[in-house]
Amino acid sequence: MHPIDWNQSLHIGVADIDAQHGALTDTINRLLLAYMHGQEKTLLASIINDLHDYAQQHFATEEALMRRFEDEYGELTLHLQQHTLFFSRVVDFLLEYVGNPQGELTPEVLDFLTDWWKNHVTGIDARFGKFLNQHGIQ
Ligand SMILES: [Fe+2]
Ligand SMILES: [Fe+2]
Repeated sequence: MHPIDWNQSLHIGVADIDAQHGALTDTINRLLLAYMHGQEKTLLASIINDLHDYAQQHFATEEALMRRFEDEYGELTLHLQQHTLFFSRVVDFLLEYVGNPQGELTPEVLDFLTDWWKNHVTGIDARFGKFLNQHGIQ
């Protein structure tokens, strides 16, 4: 597993969303580097909290734009479903952590986040970015 190299090729072309995706990348990389140095246990609780706050803010940004183009945006239902799944998974992590703070939860969190990157951010989010650009949003 390698840190995500946050660069232009990962941008979806909408400034607010890209800034938020950049912040998520930082969070993932922070957890990964701590894990590689065996120091993730002190960090994990605050990272999970960050992810929870992040999901609330970031999804609100994307979803407000989806609703604005509700009639034209063909992936609305699927996109909302994926956001709901992310959020409930983060809540599960939080509960799992609280139930067993010394457990080995970090690899699972990292797997989930890197999958999210590969499948959601560079998939449906990138397509949404193109769609928004076509509708004059940058
Ligand atoms: Fe996103
Ligand atoms: Fe999204």
